[in-house]
Amino acid sequence: MCGIVGYTGPREAYPIIIKGLHRLEYRGYDSAGVALVNENDGLHVYKKKGRVADLEETLIGANLHSHIGIGHTRWATHGEPSDRNAHPHVSFSGEIAMIHNGIIENYAQIKKELLKKGYTFKSDTDTEVLVNFIDDIKQNNDCTLEEAVRIALRRVVGAYCILLVHKDDPETIIAARKGSPLVIGIGKGEHFLASDASPIIEYTKEVVYVNDYEIAIVKPDELVLKNLGNDKQTPFITKLNMDMAAIEKGGYDHFMLKEIFEQPNTIYDCLRGRLDAENGNIIMSGIQKYAEQIINAPRIIIIACGTSWHAGLVAEYIIEETCRIPVEVEYASEFRYRNPIVHKGDVIIAISQSGETADTLVAIEKAKEQGAIIVGIVNVVGSSIARTSHTGSYTHAGPEIGVASTKAFTAQLAVLTMIALKIGYEKGTLDKERYLYLCKELAAIPEKAELVLKLDDHIKEIALKYKDVPDFLYLGRGYNFPIALEGALKLKEISYIHAEGYPAAEMKHGPIALVTNTLPVVFVATKDAYHGKVVSNMQEIKARKGIVISIITEGDTASPPLSDDVIVLPAADEIVAPMLSVIPLQLLAYHIGVAKGYDVDKPRNLAKSVTVE
Ligand code: G6P
Repeated sequence: MCGIVGYTGPREAYPIIIKGLHRLEYRGYDSAGVALVNENDGLHVYKKKGRVADLEETLIGANLHSHIGIGHTRWATHGEPSDRNAHPHVSFSGEIAMIHNGIIENYAQIKKELLKKGYTFKSDTDTEVLVNFIDDIKQNNDCTLEEAVRIALRRVVGAYCILLVHKDDPETIIAARKGSPLVIGIGKGEHFLASDASPIIEYTKEVVYVNDYEIAIVKPDELVLKNLGNDKQTPFITKLNMDMAAIEKGGYDHFMLKEIFEQPNTIYDCLRGRLDAENGNIIMSGIQKYAEQIINAPRIIIIACGTSWHAGLVAEYIIEETCRIPVEVEYASEFRYRNPIVHKGDVIIAISQSGETADTLVAIEKAKEQGAIIVGIVNVVGSSIARTSHTGSYTHAGPEIGVASTKAFTAQLAVLTMIALKIGYEKGTLDKERYLYLCKELAAIPEKAELVLKLDDHIKEIALKYKDVPDFLYLGRGYNFPIALEGALKLKEISYIHAEGYPAAEMKHGPIALVTNTLPVVFVATKDAYHGKVVSNMQEIKARKGIVISIITEGDTASPPLSDDVIVLPAADEIVAPMLSVIPLQLLAYHIGVAKGYDVDKPRNLAKSVTVE
């Protein structure tokens, strides 16, 4: 949540900051703002409610000359989206400007103390409290900004990535993080700061990921990292493995559509170099290192949020089937607060596209303290969850920019399936014949996903037919139950149509009361062990005149007579079929959202990377 960008160096800062904010807008788009420090006339702050483009428009023709700047795109936590709550926030003295991603939990107490001292506040934010707290410390101790930040942060409870500039220092950005991400790009005589690497990649591939409780003192030709005890830390420089094309739309109308269509490639990239289906080899070094512990784990707990949680639910079915290890799937936000029972030796699989989701991160930190082994399934390389995990596997789906997750989900399923097959085979709970067969089925998914994408025009027609209904029901059984949940979530996120996902048989215990001749019921009914049962559920809906949209496997003759609309997928084993059956649901949500005129890449109220709890 919230995107931050900073620049210090010889170039004009404003264009770099604005471009960076556009790239980070997926992290929040309630307001945007920049602070620039000009060597002649000090600090200038511009901010506005709305999108980055709205801010840009108001600044056309303004003199924005500066070689240093910080910028922010906001996902509101404290205080409604408005100009006055937009970042940067400037301290009471007018000397310091600050941007912040995170939540300061004890801000109310600090605010009380500052109010007593005569401070007044222009916004409702925790950020304005922190910048004044820092300024107050600076003035009382007559110290540098860096020292004041260090002293202040020792008192702060919560999560933050902050960037500060001072009106009299047209060179230095002070940055610090705890819980919210910060990457610093190292250029020649210049530095770039951002919440992720996408604003930086255009200028340099050398980056430093700042750690929790570190403060960075960033000047054009110097980067100093210190901990909160004022000890210098050695910056660890990493090379970015990402190219510009990956963060651009490449001819598609929206990132979401581009990312849906990338899936044959992203799933292939995820399997490449790991799955050798011909010889029945799965090579995953991170998993191999801990294979013994995973095989002997008394249980596996999967922790995730949102779409990643749905991937966890599919994995529960796959792992229990192939590895015979009990699996529990937990919402990270529930797990972290309910004093969970974790035993030494339990394996926790944390699934996260961004690798920064605050609830997931804290949940695994807790489980780690209790002796669990943490396996991270993460898309963003070098992210906090990846670094906190003992081991894991990257999903290699490339940057996902559309707020609603698509390609990251199928890549998560590909990785989780490989882990399950590998562990099941090594453990002996998956016999060789089935193992070899499933390896081949998995390897065939990219090609089959290509065939599913050919159904796009047909799915668009279905979308246009139903775009104005107020409710949808999604039903599925077994491996397809989580896909029904995911389909309903996609529709809610993108088209703002109310949708519920349910286990197909459980529908009799409530949702069936909603069925009328205007309610579309999407059946995720690809061929599996329960297919006959799902057909019976279809019959139950049809008997009540509901509208049936069915997603089925080629050769299925039972479902079409019961369906108003049919989407036919290539045959695949039930274990790997979810990677295919989710694609029509992504497209359905996309086309309905577009038809309704919504911004599908940035749905209202959502953010891609949820770094607050
Ligand atoms: C947000 C995003 C979802 C995502 C969820 C979990 O809500 O909008 O698309 O599934 O966070 O994010 P993660 O990065 O941990 O997978």
